Amino acid sequence: MDDKKNMRPESLMMSYGYDPHRSEGAVKCPIFQTSTFAFKTAEDGKAFFEVAYGIREKLPNEELGLIYSRLNNPDLEILENRLTLWDKAEDCAVFESGMSAISTVFLEFLKPGDLLLFSSPLYGGTDHFIHHFLTKFGVNILGFRPGQTEEELKVLIEGSGLADKLAMIYIETPANPTNALIDISCCKGIANSFSTEEKQVIVAVDNTFMGPLWQHPLQLGADLVLYSATKYIGGHSDVIAGACLGSKVLMTRIKTLRTFLGNMAGPWTGWLLMRSLETLKPRMELQAKNAAKVAHFLKDHPKVEKVYYLGFITEDDPMAYDIYKRQYDCDGAMISFDIKGKEHEAFTFLNNLKLMKLAVSLGGTESLAEHPATMTHVDVSQEDKLSMSITEKLVRISVGIENHEDLIWDIGQALDAVEI
Ligand SMILES: Cc1ncc(COP(=O)(O)O)c(C=O)c1O
Repeated sequence: MDDKKNMRPESLMMSYGYDPHRSEGAVKCPIFQTSTFAFKTAEDGKAFFEVAYGIREKLPNEELGLIYSRLNNPDLEILENRLTLWDKAEDCAVFESGMSAISTVFLEFLKPGDLLLFSSPLYGGTDHFIHHFLTKFGVNILGFRPGQTEEELKVLIEGSGLADKLAMIYIETPANPTNALIDISCCKGIANSFSTEEKQVIVAVDNTFMGPLWQHPLQLGADLVLYSATKYIGGHSDVIAGACLGSKVLMTRIKTLRTFLGNMAGPWTGWLLMRSLETLKPRMELQAKNAAKVAHFLKDHPKVEKVYYLGFITEDDPMAYDIYKRQYDCDGAMISFDIKGKEHEAFTFLNNLKLMKLAVSLGGTESLAEHPATMTHVDVSQEDKLSMSITEKLVRISVGIENHEDLIWDIGQALDAVEI
């Protein structure tokens, strides 16, 4: 396999980490639907457990076998190895949902009394976990907004009186649902300046909106990158999963907690995601191409007030433009827009779509549209919603792989039904 290491990830998604000759010559990795694995000898079982539980390090040429599907399973391990290629990560852990990946990271790196700095807006589920669960366990939380400078953030942290307790900076960029941008390397600089010999402040980035293709947070200084694999990685709106990637040292901690929480992905989920990864690049590229056409159509439409799309960030907003140029390989396939009007006009648009589905989630082959203020972000406080542009008139679209002319026709006819 080593000779393939330099190939591009898309060339390796069909084969990396799988040897057909260990599975009756099957070209595709089978679904290893088993809870447990037979040891050849008791000595083998002892050796596998010693390494799995950290009692000793793996010996240089030692071949370890599988133990039990809560710890390891071929579908999970091969999938994780393939995912590392996109982000050039040392290791990866896959979970049964994006939320289980995110909550496991919080639980591993935060303890009562610690301070968590987080960007807003965040996905509604993450926002809920931070505000309603972490605070219950005595974690101090401090939010910040896109547009705040490094100096302002340092003042914010110092002003909290808990600077010595800062343990993690958690960000989502582009943010769900407004595509607002946060500077990853700036966050790493802040994390470094509050780290000590005893304590490393972790920077974790939810990269769901860009999938593993269009933004590489680990290369920009992040310690951990997180995905709702339900979205672009799964890509067909038929599986719920999550992933976390980073250095071996950090991932060992995350995988150990995963073993005891038992929230790893099962073999069927692993197999589905491996199938999805084979088409990740062409799917996402087509989605981005379609999104650019849809975004331009919306921008010029008389019933649309404002479009939130990466491709429309200009030098008029120097801070966002600078982040946009440094962090992104593509404008993505997520678009939000303010319709002229309020909830009634937004709902009329959504209720009149014929091809696009009115549904939450994103990143799938089919286009989806939703109303963040009353759906995905309903739980965010009214004050925060208003300050983050999550208003009654905001509609979010995830662009799929349909023919772009059909998508534009559908959006056009749904806008025609709106009276302003
Ligand atoms: C940006 C983002 N992060 C995390 C999640 C949570 O992922 P999951 O639904 O797979 O648990 C979502 C779900 O919509 C999301 O949009």
